[in-house]
Amino acid sequence: MQKTLVIIKPDAVQRRLIGKVISRFEEKGLEIIGLKMTTISEKLAKENYSIHNGKDYFEKLIKFMTSGPVVMLVLRGENTIEVTRKLMGATFGYEATPGTIRGDFAMSKRFNLIHGSDSVESAEREISLFFENGDLMQNKQSGVKWIYDDAV
Ligand code: PPS
Repeated sequence: MQKTLVIIKPDAVQRRLIGKVISRFEEKGLEIIGLKMTTISEKLAKENYSIHNGKDYFEKLIKFMTSGPVVMLVLRGENTIEVTRKLMGATFGYEATPGTIRGDFAMSKRFNLIHGSDSVESAEREISLFFENGDLMQNKQSGVKWIYDDAV
């Protein structure tokens, strides 16, 4: 099973969208195996977005991501990275398809509500930046067998 890191960004927290965003992932069938609210330090934000260092939006992205509390989730499931990014929608809110999280709730480039890892390597790196291994639920939730086709 694959894991991914999701960050519910400061705009989504201030707009009281935490519950709605989490529901999308739970209702789809992904397991939440890690969850916390925190304010990201500048150091960790810069590490998380290190591959974007040098882009014209980098400093503003860091300012935004450290501007207030965020909610971090670790999700687990089959093809979780791709499924999560489909549920999130296109990067810029005004371009995202209705029915996706950004498509339903976002209009902005920078204030786009949510971050999701974009590859297995990024997911591993990002999860280890923000969670200790012992923080993550190891056992499968009992309902998982009714999500995939192995219940009967
Ligand atoms: S993504 O999400 O990885 O597919 O998007 P990408 O285009 O590679 O952008 C990487 C992150 O940079 C943010 N971004 C911006 N922020 C502010 N202003 C502008 N113009 C801008 N362009 C890209 C984008 O939201 C991505 O952040 P995350 O947190 O990964 O979504």
